[in-house]
Amino acid sequence: MLKKTQKLVIDSLEWMEDRTGIWAMFGPVLTHLAPKDAKWWYVYGSATLMAFMIQVATGVALMFSYIPSGGQAYDSLKYIADVAPWGHLIRGMHYFGASAMILLIGIHMGQVFFHGSYKFPREMNWVTGIFLLAFTLGLGFTGQTLRWDSNAVWSIVVAAEQAARVPVIGHWLAHFILAGDNVNGATLGRFFTMHVFVLPALAIAGIGLHMVLVMRHGIAEMPNEEHPVIVETYREEYHARLEKTGIPFWLMAWRDSFFSLFVVLAVLAAAIWFEPPPVELPPDPSIIETSPTPDFYLKWYLAVLSLAQSDMEDYIILGAPAFLGILLFAVPFLSNSGHRSPSKRPWSVVALITAYLFVGGFWVAGEKMDWTPKVHPKPITAEFIGATEGPIWHGAQLFQDKGCYNCHQMGHDGGKKGPDLTFVGDRLKKDNLVIRINMGGVNMPGYAGNMEANDLRDLVAFLEDRKRKHSQHPEELHTGQKGID
Ligand code: HEC
Repeated sequence: MLKKTQKLVIDSLEWMEDRTGIWAMFGPVLTHLAPKDAKWWYVYGSATLMAFMIQVATGVALMFSYIPSGGQAYDSLKYIADVAPWGHLIRGMHYFGASAMILLIGIHMGQVFFHGSYKFPREMNWVTGIFLLAFTLGLGFTGQTLRWDSNAVWSIVVAAEQAARVPVIGHWLAHFILAGDNVNGATLGRFFTMHVFVLPALAIAGIGLHMVLVMRHGIAEMPNEEHPVIVETYREEYHARLEKTGIPFWLMAWRDSFFSLFVVLAVLAAAIWFEPPPVELPPDPSIIETSPTPDFYLKWYLAVLSLAQSDMEDYIILGAPAFLGILLFAVPFLSNSGHRSPSKRPWSVVALITAYLFVGGFWVAGEKMDWTPKVHPKPITAEFIGATEGPIWHGAQLFQDKGCYNCHQMGHDGGKKGPDLTFVGDRLKKDNLVIRINMGGVNMPGYAGNMEANDLRDLVAFLEDRKRKHSQHPEELHTGQKGID
């Protein structure tokens, strides 16, 4: 009986293998020889893949409930975040999974660069990797816009404005991004298609190619000062060493599995303990925030832009990514042979550390500095306003709702991107205020055409009333007004 069952199982497996060739196809992945010294340094690539798989699984789950239409996206997301069973957790995992994926790519790239693993014959491993980085950042940006709240809509506007700066085809590009001349339902459809279809398809194809290349060239050994890469002889030497000391990949894959499991648990824990970004206000074209804040992995870039002189911005916005992109692609072609060992490549190590410091430093700056609008200032109190109804009170609400408060200090809180307006009534008369609000200025949007006449009147009434006599906090007489007169 036992014998018979055994034979049946074996026969079935053999039949399956004969008709599909699955083992012939994937077996070599498990059995191919890998360098024995490939230890914990090597787990970041497979962990990135794991993060991507988290994104696919949670992304599909989100898609079951998300409605990609201008009128319903915001509500369906609210539903996912607040009502749907597991919705909050899955949304959190999708958010922190994206963050994990981007961080892991950063570490994986750093390791490959540090160890010179991009050198001959693995140049195309690096190049496909850079494409994967680009697809991932694209996924991050398009995903952020699917929140379809005010921040998302203005991010798209900013992206379209940047694209419009490209010479010759700029106007066409902006039109393509917006699916028209302004943000509308079709724009959302376009971003949705990019996020759930085009970019994932490209990423999956890219990952496949990346894996095929890893198999083709084998996993790089740890760098060894005695074995610099010599193009003519490298392959032969690599295989000879592997025959002697290599071990089958599946024997060492436990480290990858262990670390990937850790990534899954970390993402899960983050989703439970930390909140994903709140679903902000629904989009409203009269709430103008000229500086929507991107998710953290792009924040450092926003910081670079904000620090740059405004007349330099064009070059930086277009030039910097183009330059960085070309530089990244060029890495394996600038030097594809010679030493891989970091101790023999001091300049490469300096470059790597500089790159990390640059991104890290601007990232911290982006979190801290004043020129980004403040996202959630404390509500202005009735005490400060000096009224609980009427035009002045209404004006104070508009000051908060229309985004002014995010850039301007008013009393104890508010943004520092623009001048402190706590005592603006002492400085500016009605007409000046109206002109300011309608025309905007350097780094301030103009509100003409985006605000009802009544609203403008009340807002100005509130601002005109901001005189020293109104201060309920005597200490403000000395500290409220800093360097503006
Ligand atoms: C994106 C940030 C931002 C937003 C939003 C914003 N401002 Fe400004 N605002 C600025 C900056 C920056 C300046 C200085 C501009 C300049 O000098 O050209 C400024 C200048 C002003 C001034 C002149 C102040 C002075 O002392 O000269 C007034 C008044 C003003 N803003 C009112 C408003 C009101 C009212 C709103 C909302 C309807 C608003 N701002 C929204 C950034 C902003």
